[in-house]
Parts: sequence; C-alpha cells; structure tokens
Amino acid sequence: MEKPIGIFDSGVGGLTVAAAVRALLPQESFIYFGDTRHAPYGDKSAPTIIEYSRRITRFLIEQGCKTIVIACNSASATAYDILRAEFPEVYWLNVIDPAARFVVDQGYEHVGVIATRATARSEVYAKRLKALQPQLEVATKATPLLAPLIEEGFAGTEVSRGAIDTYLSEPAFHRIQALILGCTHYPLLKDEIEAYYRGGVHVVDSAHGVALALQALLQRENLLREARVPETHFFVSENTPAFTQVARRFFGSEIALEERLLPA
Ligand code: DGL
Repeated sequence: MEKPIGIFDSGVGGLTVAAAVRALLPQESFIYFGDTRHAPYGDKSAPTIIEYSRRITRFLIEQGCKTIVIACNSASATAYDILRAEFPEVYWLNVIDPAARFVVDQGYEHVGVIATRATARSEVYAKRLKALQPQLEVATKATPLLAPLIEEGFAGTEVSRGAIDTYLSEPAFHRIQALILGCTHYPLLKDEIEAYYRGGVHVVDSAHGVALALQALLQRENLLREARVPETHFFVSENTPAFTQVARRFFGSEIALEERLLPA
C-alpha cells in the first residue's frame, strides 16, 4: 500500500496523466520517469521503444513501485504486452484500454483517432476498439506535428489552430462521433479541438480514464494508500532548463526534475 506508483513516458507528455492521478488519488506517492534523452518515441521503431521501456521498468521496479502506468501511447502500443509478460511482479496499466472502453461504453459507431506515427502505424486503437465492438468504424491519422508544436509552446495560437484544421479536415473523419486523443501531449489541445468541432464530436483524452482505472485497480487489490502526505519524484534521463519549463506546462504546477541515467 505504501509503495509508490510508477508512471513513465518518453518525456513530458505523461505528466498530463500524472496530473490526473494526482487530482484523483492525492494520497498516492508516485515516481515519474520521462525519457527525455530518447524522446520522441513516436517516430522510433518498435524494438527501440520496447528496449527503452524495459530499462525504465527495471528502474521503477528497483524503486519499489507497486504499479506501473505506461503514460505514453507509443510505448503502450508497442511494449505493454511484452512488459506485462516480462515483469509480472507489478500491476500494469496502459493509456489505450481505458479510452477504448470508454468510447465503446458510450455506444459510438464512428470513431477517429489522432496519434504519433508509431501509435498510428500499430493500429492499436482500431484493434482494441474492434475487439470490444466489432461493428465500430475507426479512422486513424498520424499527426506528428502536434507534439513538438505543444512542447514549443504553440498551443492556443494560430499555429496550433492551423495544424488542427489541416489534420482534422481529413475526409475519413467526416462522420466521426468521438475523437480519441491518442497521444499524452494532446490534452493540451483539447479545448481547441473541441472548439474546432463546436461540440459536435466527443473529444476523449485518456488521462482521467487512466486515473479512474488505476483507482479501481488499487481498490480491487487492496493497495490504496492511507490519506497522508505523499512523496513524489520526477526523474528525467536528461535535464535542461527547457525541459523544466515544458514540464511545468504539462503538469500544471511547479515541479523539480531530477536527472537519472538508466543503466544499459
Ligand atoms: N508521449 C508520446 C505518446 O503519447 C508522444 C511523444 C513522443 O513521440 O514521444 O505517444
């Protein structure tokens, strides 16, 4: 119960998930690891993402984590099944299944997904959604410009609006009822994407859904921590002043990053 939750991402995007976990489970301690040295994962091959994820997992298990949340869609898409099989000593959560379950439970028939190249290429959302509801029509689009644009501070500007407009005017998206934000950076564009659709499409980000799934898991396994002041650490594999700036934007409050090199 006392042990921390491990949350990892290629960099700062997973902080949107960490912020949702903090909001829903404020008594839980957590250790965040952002692999800033190797980010972005979204344009890397599956074997590379799997190897980086494995190294992060070893670190989080050494730190005594009771559960690990893969707060990166690219790593969830490529490494989740492998890590779960290789490290059965911890409970695992990914960012894909809670969003897929939510959309299916809403009864939608046409769903769009935007994501990095690695996630889009894996077709993981279409596979998981169709496993739950075979009739569902799923259109997936890689939107590789969005993550760097957010990191560079262009959310809420003409630049982000132009990119959103261009990407979402995709003909395959014309009939969608829900759009899954398949990248942990994208919650920072959620308002703009909702504005683009003028409320006509349900824009779904996985952060809150993952926090709810984590709460349910901890409850079920009797692992919820007592209400006391939590301990929180934010590790990155490479620290620069720019990362600290961006990290604050993603977490929504002041945080201090500690640098930690992972053994090969
Ligand atoms: N956080 C990653 C994801 O959710 C996006 C950034 C990257 O490409 O590493 O896919």
